[in-house]
Amino acid sequence: GLAKLLRKQFGKYNVILSDIRKPPAHVYQSGPFIFSDILDYKNLCEIVVNNRISWLIHYSALLSAVGEANVSLARDVNITGLHNVLDVATEHGLRLFIPSTIGAFGPMSPRNPNPDLCIQRPRTIYEVSKVHAELMGEYYHHRYGLDFRCLRYPGIISADSQPGGGTTAEYVILSHLYLSFQIVSVLFLVADSWPMVFDDSNARSDWGWKHNYGLPELIQTMLNFTGSNFRMLRAN
Ligand SMILES: NC(=O)c1ccc[n+]([C@@H]2O[C@H](COP(=O)([O-])OP(=O)(O)OC[C@H]3O[C@@H](n4cnc5c(N)ncnc54)[C@H](O)[C@@H]3O)[C@@H](O)[C@H]2O)c1
Ligand SMILES: *[C@@H]1O[C@H](CO)[C@@H](O)[C@H](O)[C@H]1NC(C)=O
Ligand SMILES: *[C@@H]1O[C@H](CO)[C@@H](O)[C@H](O)[C@H]1NC(C)=O
Repeated sequence: GLAKLLRKQFGKYNVILSDIRKPPAHVYQSGPFIFSDILDYKNLCEIVVNNRISWLIHYSALLSAVGEANVSLARDVNITGLHNVLDVATEHGLRLFIPSTIGAFGPMSPRNPNPDLCIQRPRTIYEVSKVHAELMGEYYHHRYGLDFRCLRYPGIISADSQPGGGTTAEYVILSHLYLSFQIVSVLFLVADSWPMVFDDSNARSDWGWKHNYGLPELIQTMLNFTGSNFRMLRAN
């Protein structure tokens, strides 16, 4: 979904997608796609040099379901992978974007509202690794001048793909099972420890962030997304 927007803006052949897994056919047809293992540092350098890469958007990760079964592999992919992209970006003067999560807080952080800068002492390995990523990016910026950008994503609901494996994705799947008024309580149950309200005033004033979807539109979109199953259940 993101590549589609970037290609519209920068040209089809100026955006190269990569993964260690084969994508569906329509992804191949939409522009360049190559194999790249985030753990293979030399190969990352090769790709950057051979294609004159100037921006790197880093999304590789091993999701929880797989990660729980193999914690050390998840740590490699998530954390060594992060170190590799920081190094390759610094070495070759790339601009680097890495997503964090709205879960990068913890029981000691203020939740209502939740400011950009506050104490962050989360208690899951995923969230701890994201705080590590935020701080490493800042460190590389101060130490080496790396152009590092980061956003704390909420659960991504995409028109292009099925939900992956995060907490927020699960409530979309759960809504196959529940009627509309119950979806909301599932959502709050799962996200109970997360911030309640974000103070987004810096984003609004610094880079013109504004939302297109309020809560009613979000719920309606989710219902539309799961629409056919939802109606089927009600008919039964
Ligand atoms: N999806 C969300 O709601 C959400 C919310 C907050 C943050 N994020 C962050 O966004 C990023 C991407 O999440 P996603 O939901 O797109 O995950 P995803 O699982 O859909 O994508 C991760 C990709 O990484 C690939 N990968 C695994 N091992 C690799 C390796 N060794 N080398 C290269 N690629 C490898 C996987 O094949 C997969 O396609 C993650 O950092 C995640 O923490 C996502
Ligand atoms: C790795 O990242 C994925 C999603 O980005 C997360 O679900 C998983 O818990 C993480 N594992 C570790 C060990 O950081
Ligand atoms: C949901 O679907 C209905 C009926 O197809 C449509 O009119 C409406 O615009 C959709 N709403 C959203 C937020 O996508």
